Amino acid sequence: MDIKKLEAWYESNHRKLLFRETSDPYKIWVSEIMLQQTQVETVLPFFKSFIKKYPTVERLAKTDQETLKKDVEGLGYYRRFKYMLLAAKQIVDKNSGFPSKYQDVLALPGVGKYTAGAIMSIAYNEPYSALDGNVIRVLSRYLNLNDDFRVEKNKKNLDQINQEIIESARPRIYTQSLMELGALICRPKNPKCEICPLNEHCIAYELNIQETLPVMAKL
Ligand code: ADE
Repeated sequence: MDIKKLEAWYESNHRKLLFRETSDPYKIWVSEIMLQQTQVETVLPFFKSFIKKYPTVERLAKTDQETLKKDVEGLGYYRRFKYMLLAAKQIVDKNSGFPSKYQDVLALPGVGKYTAGAIMSIAYNEPYSALDGNVIRVLSRYLNLNDDFRVEKNKKNLDQINQEIIESARPRIYTQSLMELGALICRPKNPKCEICPLNEHCIAYELNIQETLPVMAKL
């Protein structure tokens, strides 16, 4: 993987999004929960007002489900915020701040492997794989992988590959650069391969099959 090129591309081309101006794990957690099922543009104003109202996990823990539900009305999928409030209360009850160990982050209600990896890499700059749809698309094309990554064992294999790559990268930059590349260049349709920092060794591009990946067979 051309990590140096990818990271250099990110540094000069990434969007300056509000949640990228911080490495506060609490704020990264909030942003990743919001971004799980919702587009970046939709999330931004909600993230801004949410952090203004709840600047710390302690402030969040003091609210109640009814209030929180109104605060995030419009984002949809309310269940994630139920878990978020539960997690905030747990964190505050333990009185040890936002967890900094992978296993403790993963144990928070509503946090799965993806979100835990995103928090560890983006907030703490620790090498933990965060495999979302964007990352799956970039890697499946770059490596020309024909598996269906909705199948758990295939996803697990790709997660292991991404884990090995991130261990020799700058985790904070690497995770975000794959997400950004997936959003801006390595798009599902009409990817901009001509200007992609990974085009020199991208196998799908070489074979001109980039739009056929990742494989989405009927389940
Ligand atoms: N989608 C999920 N997490 C993201 C992030 N950190 N940046 C951009 N898009 C995302």
